[in-house]
Amino acid sequence: MTRQTLIVGNWKMNGSAAHVDSFCEALTDSSIPRSAELAVCVPFVYIPRAVAALAGSRIATGSQDISEQKESGAFTGEVSGEMLRDCGARFAIVGHSERRARHGETDELVAAKANAAYTLALTPIVCLGESLAQREAGETETVLAAQVAALTGACSASTLGHMVLAYEPIWAIGSGRSATPEQAQAVHAFLRARLAEWDAATAESTPILYGGSVKPDNVGLLAVGDDVDGALVGGASLQPEPFLKIANAFE
Ligand code: PGA
Repeated sequence: MTRQTLIVGNWKMNGSAAHVDSFCEALTDSSIPRSAELAVCVPFVYIPRAVAALAGSRIATGSQDISEQKESGAFTGEVSGEMLRDCGARFAIVGHSERRARHGETDELVAAKANAAYTLALTPIVCLGESLAQREAGETETVLAAQVAALTGACSASTLGHMVLAYEPIWAIGSGRSATPEQAQAVHAFLRARLAEWDAATAESTPILYGGSVKPDNVGLLAVGDDVDGALVGGASLQPEPFLKIANAFE
């Protein structure tokens, strides 16, 4: 079966109103690959601006996090899925390693956020990945198996059937050292096999993105992997040209 190809930009805590405007203008005017879906996950405060600037284009907007709370209430500083959808967001990144490390997000919280996103009509992009120490200790598969088990154990069947996974080895994020195409494909195939133990059809249809120092000059070989269905792009998504080059490599 053919899975949706998805290229997602993760701006992290970067950008400005002027940058959103110039980026979106360049993106709508430039050539976007026909077969791929594109999304940019900008800081919360710029979501309405990006949605407005990208209206009528095939590029979606997403958030970089979401509250696990499904109802509004006394949760200072949180942003709910309903608010995100109200502003026009379509995707929500959950469980990025920077949030796991800096904000103590656990596998359970990540699963709750994925469920909240799905319940509130957003597609969760769930980030998974091992640290360098874990890879060097030969623990990559054990770590990833536990992360997948936490998802399959805590997410509803409908969430699991509509989520996107992003394999992001922590050592590759922002380091300039991407996983090799072989490493990425091997892990993606492993993740799909773990999902298949839960449900074969879900495993077949779930897009698995690779993230971690994806650049125009290394994406060509990464994109070849059978189980690599797109990319989650940090630094190289801040400018339209490299972002579009990366997207076009999946065409
Ligand atoms: P990077 O970030 O492309 O800058 O390595 C990827 C990510 O953290 O999503």
